[in-house]
Parts: sequence; structure tokens; C-alpha cells
Amino acid sequence: MHKPGFVVWFTGLSGAGKTTIAVKLEEELLKRNLRVQRLDGDIVRKSLTKDLGFTEEDRKKNIERVTFVTRLLAKHGVATLVSFISPYISVREQARKEVEAENARFIEVFVKASVEECARRDVKGLYEKAFAGEIENFTGVSHPYEEPPNPEIVCDTEHETVEESVKIILDYLEKERLIPNSS
Ligand code: ADX
Repeated sequence: MHKPGFVVWFTGLSGAGKTTIAVKLEEELLKRNLRVQRLDGDIVRKSLTKDLGFTEEDRKKNIERVTFVTRLLAKHGVATLVSFISPYISVREQARKEVEAENARFIEVFVKASVEECARRDVKGLYEKAFAGEIENFTGVSHPYEEPPNPEIVCDTEHETVEESVKIILDYLEKERLIPNSS
């Protein structure tokens, strides 16, 4: 019988580690011969949502379009790894609803790191600019981030390695019988 896929939805501040964890998780799932698709803010914003900026309205549209694609992938049995800041609870809950409407599982992963820590890492140099007022509507600095009240998984990237975070997610997926056991 056709088996719906599942969605691992990473949410968190810019620089918290969403993409890093998603890339490693993708590698692990591919090793298990699953069909995997990763959707990432930095990539999708260069194509499907390149017309959008970072106002509340645009971020909502960004996630709505991504949700549309995610739903289709999940419906067709693909393990879909989605990494966007996705700062609003309501929009993430809408994504969950749509995915679950396809009988696919939605696993929200809060990639947790404080603004101070993300600014200290400042991999892309954006926090420095945001604090200097050169970028407006910057998440965690001049634009809100709504933490998930009830995520399936929290990856505390200030205290865990990437490998540890990935292992926690893999263990969860195994426990929920969404992927085969590794042993
Ligand atoms: S979301 O809020 O609409 O979900 P998304 O994940 O697609 O955001 O894009 C976030 C990425 O865009 C960040 O990692 C960063 O590289 C870049 N970026 C550029 N401007 C901003 C901004 N004002 N706020 C947050 N991220 C920004």
C-alpha cells in the first residue's frame, strides 16, 4: 500500500543550525534508501519565493508556498526536511494541518539557540548589520520569533553537537516507526 511520507519541520533563528542539522539528517536518511527532499529558506528564496522580502506578510506567503510544496511531497511518500525560520506559530500550525490532512506525520523540531549565541556565531555577518540598523525586520533583533510551545523535538544547539541533534531526530523517527531501525 502507498505509504505517506513525513515532514521534519525545522524552525529557529537564523544561524541556530537548522540547515546544518537538516543536511546531516538528509545524509542519514539517504543511507537508509529513503526518498528525501530538503527545502531550505536560503535556496527556496532564490527561486519559488524570490519575489518576497521579510515583512510579516511576505514571510507568511513564503511559508504558505513552501507548505504547498511540502504537502505534495509528503502525500507522495517523500521524507521532507523543511528548514525555514518560520517565525509564526499560526503559520507552522497551518503547515501541520495540511500535512496531516495527507495522513503524513509532521514533526516540528525547534532548533534552539539564543539571539546572543546566533549573533556571536554570525556565520553570514547578518546580525552585525541588523544591530547596526542596516537590515530591517531581522528576526530576533527587530522582528519577532514565536517559539514553538509544543515541538516534538528540541535541538539545543548551544549544548549539543550536530551529531547528537541528528541522533535524537533519528531515534524519534525510529521510535515512531517512520524509518526502519538502523540495527
Ligand atoms: S522566514 O522568516 O520567511 O521563514 P527564511 O527561513 O525563508 O525566513 O529566510 C531566512 C534567511 O534569510 C536567513 O537565514 C538569512 O540568511 C536571510 N535573511 C535576510 N534578511 C533577513 C531578515 N530580515 N530576517 C531574517 N533572515 C533574513
